[in-house]
Amino acid sequence: MPKLAIVYLSTQGNTQMMAEAIAEGARERHVEVKVNNFHEWDPAEIEDYDAIAVGSSTFYYTMLDPIAKFIDRIIEVGVDGKIGAAFGSYGWSGEAPVKIAEKLRSAGVEVIDPVLRIQYTPTEKDLFECNRLGKDLAERVKNR
Ligand SMILES: Cc1cc2nc3c(=O)[nH]c(=O)nc-3n(C[C@H](O)[C@H](O)[C@H](O)COP(=O)(O)O)c2cc1C
Repeated sequence: MPKLAIVYLSTQGNTQMMAEAIAEGARERHVEVKVNNFHEWDPAEIEDYDAIAVGSSTFYYTMLDPIAKFIDRIIEVGVDGKIGAAFGSYGWSGEAPVKIAEKLRSAGVEVIDPVLRIQYTPTEKDLFECNRLGKDLAERVKNR
């Protein structure tokens, strides 16, 4: 079974809700998923995964520093050729997912479009979109 890693940083649980809904969508398409806060992940583990979705809320017009550092560490481990996605909750400007996608792409990750941004707490409809992204990611890893 293909494997998807979902890594997030969420201060109040909004991006976490997105991560869980993405996980559910991918599992519905029979992909093995591990979803966890970035500090629960050992960057070295990422090597075993076919796809990686990274999420962060936007703070001060970018992602928070710990998730930027985490991405740097997984790039060192090696992410070239993996399928990827970027997502996150935001309030008014929402740069973090765009910057995550840029960082992953520069390291050779095939990040699927569009990056998924949700304003504040996801609604049912927003969570449906997250679930959809999980399914899309699953189809992409299965068909490569
Ligand atoms: C101190 C602070 C700074 C923030 N800066 C931004 C910002 O620059 N741009 C933006 O779109 N949202 C900003 N936000 C809003 C958060 O991204 C938003 O509340 C988001 O839903 C938090 O999601 P989380 O629970 O996953 O961390 C900021 C929030 C706080 C508390």
